[in-house]
Amino acid sequence: MDVLLVGGGGREHSLAWKLAQSPQIGKLYIAPGNGGTARLGENVPIGAMEFEKLADFAAEKNVGLTVCSMDDPLAAGIVDLFRERGLRIWGPSKSAARVESSKAFAKQLMSDAKVPTAAFKVFTAYAPALGYVRRQGVPIVIKASGLALGKGVYVCKTVEEAEAALKEILVDRVHNDAGSEVVIEEFLDGPEISIHALCDGSTHLMFPPSQDHKTIFEGNEGPMTGGMGTYVPVPWVDEDAMSGIEAQVVGPTLDALGRSGVQFTGLLYPGLKMTAEGPKVLEFNARFGDPECQAYMRLMKSDLLELLEASADGTLDGVRIEWQSGFAVNIVIASGGYPGEYKKGLPITGIEEAEKISGVVVFHAGTRLEGDVPVTNGGRVLGVSAVGRTLKEALDSAYKAADTIQFEGKYFRRDIGAGAL
Ligand code: GLY
Repeated sequence: MDVLLVGGGGREHSLAWKLAQSPQIGKLYIAPGNGGTARLGENVPIGAMEFEKLADFAAEKNVGLTVCSMDDPLAAGIVDLFRERGLRIWGPSKSAARVESSKAFAKQLMSDAKVPTAAFKVFTAYAPALGYVRRQGVPIVIKASGLALGKGVYVCKTVEEAEAALKEILVDRVHNDAGSEVVIEEFLDGPEISIHALCDGSTHLMFPPSQDHKTIFEGNEGPMTGGMGTYVPVPWVDEDAMSGIEAQVVGPTLDALGRSGVQFTGLLYPGLKMTAEGPKVLEFNARFGDPECQAYMRLMKSDLLELLEASADGTLDGVRIEWQSGFAVNIVIASGGYPGEYKKGLPITGIEEAEKISGVVVFHAGTRLEGDVPVTNGGRVLGVSAVGRTLKEALDSAYKAADTIQFEGKYFRRDIGAGAL
């Protein structure tokens, strides 16, 4: 079966890497792909938001399954358009993807379903929002309700910071329409984990827990990024905790969506804070995490294509996901300056040598090929993944590989997974 994968980040390289291993795969197309996916299939020069062109391509090439795990196209209805045209696609519909594309919707859903989450209120105007902040006090969290490229969350330690955040979102509209509504919520303290559940509209399968590291600097300091590194599983989240998360978060959320007539097919990814009062949902995503996906793909033994087909077709009941024992990690190598300004087009060396290290696979994110030479083309450039029998073994291999790769200004955090060792 031929497959079309939509996107071109590190997550998509790892999905392509895993799909390419499926015994059922025919041709693999990636639109638009990146320097890494070009080696696994055919990169197609169509953007992820060009739905009609993607659908025309899928129809013309007789693609058996299109796979989309990106927030913007899902929020804008790529799945609905493909389905209207009778084309098979994996991912949630536009209304199901609202759990990610509208934080206000997600909070209301959680409130209705009694899913544990921070106390909150939604505002569309500056003055009442600021009045609420003053009454609640700090620390407090202010979020643009819509998709804001991961930059719409403000953790405010002073009222002045909260005032500035509200002005940026509601008055200056720096996030455009994503900031027409704000969610103001109680600050939650505790470590953050990522939960992934593969869903088919009625059945869901839980992945092991993972943890991302979202700030640019070590020790969880500095500005937020798209994610600087992950490991899976998280050893301090045991089976009982996972059963609780399934029973209190994943199940009730899917049930509440179902009651409102929305079937969630695809990947539900709640980000949780593990607070002293138990797990509480920070946010929902309607797709694989990036860089979580890269670590999951390294640990998954099952055929990903078979799982995605069952998820898209509503036949997950009775299916199991097999995982390798041990750990997988993924260290993000970023361009110097990210998440602010950074240079592009810098030649990258050492990837082949890095992949000779036992257990290592390097996933491309912001790269492109100049002839045969990979050059930087984004903020998060590469994901250096490794598997090991222990977390330490996986981290040692990944860091040795990350040290082998060179480009001007390369930057990565040296403390990924350190808190779990
Ligand atoms: N790991 C962060 C994200 O995918 O949103």
